[in-house]
Amino acid sequence: MSHNLLQGKRGVIFGALNDMSIAWKVAERAVEEGAQITLSNTPLAVRMGTTDVLSEKLGATIIPADATSVDDLQVVFERSVEILGGKIDFVLHSIGMSPNVRKKRTYDDLDYSMLDTTLDVSAVSFHKMIQTAKKLDAINEWGSIVALSYIAAQRTMVGYNDMADAKALLESIARSFGYVYGREKSVRINTISQSPTMTTAGSGVKGMNNLFDFAERMSPVGNATADDCANYCIMMFSDLTRKVTMQNLYHDGGFSSMGMSYRAMEQYIKGIDEYRDEDGNIVYG
Ligand SMILES: NC(=O)c1ccc[n+]([C@@H]2O[C@H](COP(=O)([O-])OP(=O)(O)OC[C@H]3O[C@@H](n4cnc5c(N)ncnc54)[C@H](O)[C@@H]3O)[C@@H](O)[C@H]2O)c1
Repeated sequence: MSHNLLQGKRGVIFGALNDMSIAWKVAERAVEEGAQITLSNTPLAVRMGTTDVLSEKLGATIIPADATSVDDLQVVFERSVEILGGKIDFVLHSIGMSPNVRKKRTYDDLDYSMLDTTLDVSAVSFHKMIQTAKKLDAINEWGSIVALSYIAAQRTMVGYNDMADAKALLESIARSFGYVYGREKSVRINTISQSPTMTTAGSGVKGMNNLFDFAERMSPVGNATADDCANYCIMMFSDLTRKVTMQNLYHDGGFSSMGMSYRAMEQYIKGIDEYRDEDGNIVYG
């Protein structure tokens, strides 16, 4: 249902790969709420993914770009302003990738050139995006910029590996640039810390199914889906959240405030029962 929250606004959405992508759902909701948008993803993702289907459905031009390339980003913002007919009101950074995770390198055996790539693609690209847009003066006053994060930035999560460090940097960039851009142009910058979500990037995390199930059991109102996340992004892009900036906003069904829940405890007890001997003692090894 549309509330016309983004009527007359122009946006750039990075990271829609397929219909499971969080960015895909955000793009659909943004247009439903009255925005005009452009889409961007890597040239490879544009060729291999299904972004063209979304582009056709929404009447949104795709501008291929590697988000680690300032030259590419410059083209994205220049062309978006031209195509949409004015400065941009909102930007979504929905980009993440770790070669160490892909190659199953453990956190105590990281390849450092891969770590550089993880940080560049998943975090520094956010800085590059904002700095490029600012230098071009491509964002309207009171514009809203959002990136997607994960709670592994604050709490250690098994299997999340060097992406945890990337998310910590991403959230820090939102604060540091939020100060500069807010002071000068009232542009607000936030990260949304989303529940585990079954997407292409999400499935790459070791033990994702178990992590997803654990988070679901721990969260009093359940994991936030990609559709829920799209709704939250729309609110953040709208004029209803003009004074929210430099925040990491948890969108996780309550997970971040929990210590232990009844449903997780129930599962935990079942799990350890398998490791008890006939006298009820836990067999550890
Ligand atoms: N899925 C989850 O469990 C989860 C949870 C919290 C946060 N997030 C974050 O949400 C964001 C979106 O991920 P998703 O889950 O929708 O998965 P996804 O795989 O659909 O999206 C990731 C996108 O990043 C793009 N990308 C990778 N390298 C790029 C580059 N160099 N330049 C431009 N784009 C590049 C990919 O092409 C893809 O479209 C990511 O930042 C991810 O870390 C995901």
